[in-house]
Amino acid sequence: MILPVLQYPDPLLARKAEPVLEITPAIRVLAADMAETMYACDGVGLAAPQVGQPLRLVVMDLSGPEKRSDLRVLVNPALILAGEEVDAEEGCLSVADYTAKVRRREFARVEATDLEGRPVAFDAEGRMAVCAQHECDHLDGILFVDHLSRLKRGMFDRRLKKKKI
Ligand code: NI
Repeated sequence: MILPVLQYPDPLLARKAEPVLEITPAIRVLAADMAETMYACDGVGLAAPQVGQPLRLVVMDLSGPEKRSDLRVLVNPALILAGEEVDAEEGCLSVADYTAKVRRREFARVEATDLEGRPVAFDAEGRMAVCAQHECDHLDGILFVDHLSRLKRGMFDRRLKKKKI
């Protein structure tokens, strides 16, 4: 089922998510719905808080754009960051019609649990590392626009206000 994606400034997007304590059938359904929603929106990642569920659950797929074949479901992900700082262009399904350069780290070791409760770990770089940092930020109530300089953030907020009038 395709789920509605919350839009900034929905307060649920700013809330810290809770760990998934048990992988129940409901968590499996949520993960499947999140993947379906991400694909329907042409996104590369989606975090549970974006669909109104305050849980530490992320889906990512950096393959494509034509064929999507690398779905990663991450339960309670944790990151170990390494490498240089890099500026990468980012957007977000919860921040419509806006992209901006955000400073991230070059590499991320991703450690999580899969839907069978087994530990998974992989080393991410490039777009995958950026995506992992972006999605894990969502679990702490942080959006990519929260990383902008005051000047850029001011421009973004004014633009958003204008759109609403
Ligand atoms: Ni996002």
